[in-house]
Amino acid sequence: MLPKINPTRTKAWQELNAHFAQNDFELRTLFQYNPERFNQFSVRRENYLFDFSKNLIDGRTFELLQNLAEECKLKEAISAMFSGEKINETEGRAVLHTALRDFTDKEILVDGENIKPKIRKVLDQMKGFSERVISGSHKGFTGKEITDVVNIGIGGSDLGPVMVVSALKHFKTRLNVHFVSNVDGNHIAETLKTLNPETTLFIIASKTFTTQETMTNAESAKSWFLKSAKQEDVAKHFVALSTNIQSVKAFGIAEENIFEFWDWVGGRYSLWSAIGLSISLAVGFNNFENLLKGAHETDVHFQAADFKENVPVLMALLGIWYRNFFSAGTYAILPYSQYLDRFPAYLQQGDMESNGKCVDRNGEFVEYETGPIIWGEPGTNGQHAFYQLIHQGTELIPADFIAYVKSPNQVSDHQEKLLANFFAQTEALAFGKTEEEARAELIESSKSEEEVKRLLNFKIFHGNTPTNSLLINELTPFSLGQLIALYEHKIFVQGIIWNVFSFDQFGVELGKVLAGKILKEIESGETVTSHDSSTNGLMNYFKEKKSI
Ligand code: F6P
Repeated sequence: MLPKINPTRTKAWQELNAHFAQNDFELRTLFQYNPERFNQFSVRRENYLFDFSKNLIDGRTFELLQNLAEECKLKEAISAMFSGEKINETEGRAVLHTALRDFTDKEILVDGENIKPKIRKVLDQMKGFSERVISGSHKGFTGKEITDVVNIGIGGSDLGPVMVVSALKHFKTRLNVHFVSNVDGNHIAETLKTLNPETTLFIIASKTFTTQETMTNAESAKSWFLKSAKQEDVAKHFVALSTNIQSVKAFGIAEENIFEFWDWVGGRYSLWSAIGLSISLAVGFNNFENLLKGAHETDVHFQAADFKENVPVLMALLGIWYRNFFSAGTYAILPYSQYLDRFPAYLQQGDMESNGKCVDRNGEFVEYETGPIIWGEPGTNGQHAFYQLIHQGTELIPADFIAYVKSPNQVSDHQEKLLANFFAQTEALAFGKTEEEARAELIESSKSEEEVKRLLNFKIFHGNTPTNSLLINELTPFSLGQLIALYEHKIFVQGIIWNVFSFDQFGVELGKVLAGKILKEIESGETVTSHDSSTNGLMNYFKEKKSI
């Protein structure tokens, strides 16, 4: 069981409050008086550097944040998760996505059963299938090789694979992998326009196999396929990834085409499971396995490293510092890598579905802030869109900058320019431009005294915007696995300290139930009167215009 401690009642929290009130945490001053700051506040690991020195902290903050983790019994919580305790209490489940990437001989028990053999069995099944499809020995119903794969899923059954397949484009096999998630029929229609049923493989990815969007898209895909093929051909073109074997069979997918996973794998933590089949097809099973191994490396680090050099713990504690003491409502994820274009979107589900909660583990409403809004876009594009607000707006927006040292595509000096922007932005955000500097610059550019006066305030940058910098040597499946797991554990640590249950998602249920009820009403011929006047009005307008 997880500890159930209100963080605000800990000694460390009280001390952090006092510490926050007594200091102004000016990065200019902090750097000026501590030449060792970078060494003190960075962690160098084998293939990456985590620099957190540009944060609004001093040695005392660092110590108190670690005390907070200790007092909230983080160590105990970490071992409860890894050992398979049912820490997802509201759903009565263990949380063992980490077991999926643990290639050691260590047994992991769920209800007395060692789950390692069944994990291995599905991995072998994925390996064999991926190899057959990639090599072309798995043939479609007219004897042709598969050229295109369509993963149909949503949320955790989509975002993780989409993100990884995009990130690992450089490792692509000959297969073209597409993703359809939205129930908006245009998503599947546009995808299918370019495809040939003879050479297309559909993966129906759904943990529950009940999700409306996925089931609707799966039925549409099957109808499209059956326009050219027969029912018995479905077996060669449809596979399913699910925990719900009965419903998969009812859909018409044969048992041998089911890749199973289990209820101790949360949807948003499932890319390591059979849900990763699209990844394995897109980049090959070896690369998928290396992704898992990278994540395992982070798991080992997370369990063993002292908090002061434990990267996910540090990321989490810094996030709490800004959320709860500086009242920062959002957190930006800014990858300086086009390959990571879907990483912020992936983390939105990972973080916000996990820690967007207002009830604590005692079942009481919390009186402090929990998960922030997560958002972001790759640099440098974001610089020409929303950075203005980060530099000169009125919100404090902490951010993670992520970049790779080496690029697989050496295109003139693009990489140097990309990284120059990364370094320039983190420096500018931290140190800004003071009034004196702005004035000196204006004078130097030959502005009149009057112009200097008029323009001065517009040219000041407040600075003191905190950032973490994660510089990873190279984008490989292994390092990507490490990176994803860093964030998974960051989210876990924050959930532990905020005293919320991070592995359920009751918040998404309400909309699902209401949508089911409303669907019946908009399909009926009757005028809708059963809702509030706004909802009735909107639905009736839709019905009226649709039938014209
Ligand atoms: O969006 C809500 C959610 O329940 C997510 O947690 C999950 O990843 C997604 O729906 C998809 O669920 P399934 O894999 O069961 O179709």
